[in-house]
Amino acid sequence: MKKTTKICCIGAGYVGGPTMSVIANQCPEIQVTVVDINQDRINQWNDEDLDKLPVYEPGLKEIIASNRNKNLFFSTEVDKAIEEADIIFISVNTPTKTYGKGKGQAADLKFIELCARNIAKVAKTDKIVVEKSTLPVRTAGAIKSILENTGNGVNFEILSNPEFLAEGTAVDDLLNADRVLIGGDDTPTGQKAKDTLSAIYEHWLPKDRILQTNVWSSELSKLVANAFLAQRVSSINSISALCERTDANVAEVARAIGYDSRIGSKFLNSSVGFGGSCFQKDILNLVYIASSFGLQEVADYWEQVIIMNDYQKRRFAENIISTLYNTVSGKKIVFYGWAFKKDTNDTRESAAIYVADALLEERAEIIVYDPKVSEKTIYADMDYLNTRTPEENRRLLKVVKDPIKATEEAHAIAILTEWDEFKTYDWDKIYNNMLKPAFVFDGRRLLDSETMTAKGFEFYKIGQS
Ligand code: NAD
Ligand code: UDX
Repeated sequence: MKKTTKICCIGAGYVGGPTMSVIANQCPEIQVTVVDINQDRINQWNDEDLDKLPVYEPGLKEIIASNRNKNLFFSTEVDKAIEEADIIFISVNTPTKTYGKGKGQAADLKFIELCARNIAKVAKTDKIVVEKSTLPVRTAGAIKSILENTGNGVNFEILSNPEFLAEGTAVDDLLNADRVLIGGDDTPTGQKAKDTLSAIYEHWLPKDRILQTNVWSSELSKLVANAFLAQRVSSINSISALCERTDANVAEVARAIGYDSRIGSKFLNSSVGFGGSCFQKDILNLVYIASSFGLQEVADYWEQVIIMNDYQKRRFAENIISTLYNTVSGKKIVFYGWAFKKDTNDTRESAAIYVADALLEERAEIIVYDPKVSEKTIYADMDYLNTRTPEENRRLLKVVKDPIKATEEAHAIAILTEWDEFKTYDWDKIYNNMLKPAFVFDGRRLLDSETMTAKGFEFYKIGQS
C-alpha cells in the first residue's frame, strides 16, 4: 500500500478544522492542508491569537498551537492543495435547500458538486476522494459521475467517511471515537482505498473500531444515527410536557428508564429542544429521501421528531408568557446562553433564536449573555429569520458582557444553554437585582429547584411541575 504523505480537506468549518487538526496531531509524517474559499475564516484559523480561532472547542487551540505551520496548514489555495494531495476530504456545508425542488427538506448539494468539479479539473494524479460531509444516500454516485466525465483520465476512488463528532466535545470524540465508518466499493481498488484511509485512523484507534461497509450503507448510517439520537431527545421532551402536568419529574423518569440496559442512560436530558446544524437538517433530509421513494409512512414517522422539537421550543416561550401574567410587553427578560449547547460558539438552529423570536413578537425586551457567542452572530441569527427589521432587532434585543449586571430590574431570566458557569453565579445577588417576583425559567434543567426556591425565586424547570 502506497504511504499517504499529503492530504487536503476542502471546507475549514466545525468539522474540517477540528478533524484535520487531530489527524495532523496524530500523524506527524502526513502533511495536512485545510482549504476554504472563505478568506476571513482562513485568516481566523491562522490568527496568532488562538482565542480568535473561528471554532471554539475545548482542547482545540492547544492542538493548533503545536501543529500549525509544521504539518498543519490553513489556506485558500484550493487548487494547489488538491493537486498535491493523495487523499482529498470534502467537508463543506450541506444545508437544507431554501429554493426549488425539495425546498425546506432536501440537502443542498451545490457546494459538494462545485468541489467535485474542481477536483475533476485540477487532479493530474490518482486520488482518493472522501465524503466527510453528511450526504443523502447515493450521493457518491453523483460525485463519481462528475469526476469520471470531466476528469483528466486519472482514477478516482470515492469513499464515504461520515463524521460523528459532536460540537463541544469534538477533540475528545475524535481521539476516542466509538467507531470510524468507511464505506467504499467492493472492488480491489475500492478495498485498497478503504485500507489506505483506515491506516490514517489506525495511528490512534484500534482496528476493531474502524468499520468498513459499502458506500451506500455508510452514507445512510450517518443520517440514521442522527435521526435516532434526535428521536431520543424528542421522546424525552414529549414526556417532559406530561411530567409538568402530573407531578412526575422527567429526570427521575429518564433515570428509571435509562437503567434498563436495553434503553441506556445517554441522550435523555430533557431540554428546551435540540438545536445545532445537524439534527434537524439530517432528519429533514431523511424525510425527503423516504418520501421521494414513495415511503410516506416512513417520512411521517421521522418528521414527528421535528414536530415534537418545534413544540418544545414553542411550549417554553408560551410558558414564559403565561407565567408573566400573560403579557411580556416591555418586560426585561435576560437570556443566559445563546449557543445550541455548552462549550461551543455555534448557534445554528439554537433553540434560543426561536424562543427570542416568539418573545419579541410579544414585545418583550431581551438581554442576551453568552460566554462564547459574539454580538454579531446573535444579530445575524435574528436578522436571518426576517421576522422584523434589523433596526427593530437591535432596539428590542441587547447583547451584554456582564451577566450579573444584566439582571438589574429584570422581570425574568431564561436559561437557554447549559454553560457550567451559570451554576457558579451569585444567585442571591441576582435575586436582589431583579424585580419581584423574580422568575427563572430553566430550559436546561441546570439549577436545583429547592435551592432556587429557597432563595426566593419563582423557579420553573422543564419537565417538573
Ligand atoms: P461549516 O459551515 O462550519 O463549514 C463548511 C465550510 O466549507 C465553510 O467554511 C465554507 O466556506 C466551506 N466551503 C463551502 N464550499 C466550498 C468550496 N467549494 N470550496 C472550499 N470551501 C468551501 O460546516 P460544518 O459544520 O463543518 O459541516 C460540514 C459538513 O459536515 C456538513 O455536511 C455537516 O452536515 C457535516 N457534519 C457536521 C457536524 C457538526 O457537528 N457541525 C458533525 C458531523 C457532520
Ligand atoms: C450531533 C451528533 O451527536 C453527532 O454525532 C453528529 O456528528 C453531529 O450532530 P451536535 O449537534 O454537535 O452533534 O451535538 P449533540 O450533543 O448531539 O446535541 C444536539 C442538540 O441536542 C443540542 O441542542 C443538545 O443540547 C440537545 N440535546 C442533546 C438534548 O437536548 N438532550 C440530550 O440528552 C442530548
